[in-house]
Amino acid sequence: MTVAELPKIELHLHHEGAAPPAFIRQLAHEKRIDLSGIFTPDGKYDFRDFAHFLSVYEAACEVLKTPEDFRRLTLAILEESAANGVVYSETFLSPDFCGGGDLHAWKDYLNAIQDAADEAERKLDITLRGVVTCVRHFGPEQAKRSANCAAETAGEWVTGFGMGGNESIGTQGDYKWAFDCAREAGLRLTTHAGEFGGPESVREAVRELGVERIGHGVRAIEDADLIRELIDREVTLEVCPGSNVVLGLFPDFTAHPIARLRDHGVNVTVSTDDPPFFHTTMRREYEMLGNAFGWDAEDFAALNDTALNAAFCDEDTRARVKKRLERT
Ligand code: ADE
Ligand code: ZN
Repeated sequence: MTVAELPKIELHLHHEGAAPPAFIRQLAHEKRIDLSGIFTPDGKYDFRDFAHFLSVYEAACEVLKTPEDFRRLTLAILEESAANGVVYSETFLSPDFCGGGDLHAWKDYLNAIQDAADEAERKLDITLRGVVTCVRHFGPEQAKRSANCAAETAGEWVTGFGMGGNESIGTQGDYKWAFDCAREAGLRLTTHAGEFGGPESVREAVRELGVERIGHGVRAIEDADLIRELIDREVTLEVCPGSNVVLGLFPDFTAHPIARLRDHGVNVTVSTDDPPFFHTTMRREYEMLGNAFGWDAEDFAALNDTALNAAFCDEDTRARVKKRLERT
């Protein structure tokens, strides 16, 4: 089986960050919004560094204004994921971009997204679950509103809560209320840490927020005690190597610590983060890992096992996806 054909599980995908630039340009055209400043002459997203990436991301979100926009976006994302062999995916949804944190509006957006996910599941045999995320640089008060939206819609489809955004703003602990609120609603927890923050950010995330997964977490490689703690606590890292390379954390795939973390015994998984921003797909991530570390079908099957174990879905769904993996 070729890498393209291998079934794949993706746990770390930002919904708006997965919007193809052509999709955003089309909406901008329909709504007569000028977004020309965020694209390169050949139509890709244009950004210099992480802070600029976040501002380009938020500019693109300005055209995503209605539940119908999100329905169309969800279909576009799932078509692309399915074409790359993804059979199960978890997407990060921010109430901030879906009604500004208002619960009523959030429910309308969520319905539209779930409708599209149901349609894609029927047509493309891909399963999607939602992880509601707050945005760290929007601050703890806004995070509480996102957590409340998450808690009020927690269930079979919204299964997790997390945090993205600029890791250099405040501390993980500043968001403890939001994470406690989500946990009490039965949601599983993840947060971005150890991407631009160092090992202490990862340690704080697991100790203070009690997350069971970490978005990125790759800078744990700098701290042997932390690596042991991640193993002891059975934390899973949602590693996004292509994203890390484009954002300058590591010069290339061969220098990326994912293989070393795996060899130490840390649970690692592979995702794309914001695929069109980082010129990647799940298929490309697998190909690059195969080239850099010699990973083969057996390694990728083990990676899928780790991801499926760490997936924030119920046990029926997990069993169904397991069968789907075995069938391919
Ligand atoms: N939001 C979207 N992509 C992100 C990333 N790589 N880090 C933090 N926040 C994000
Ligand atoms: Zn991310």
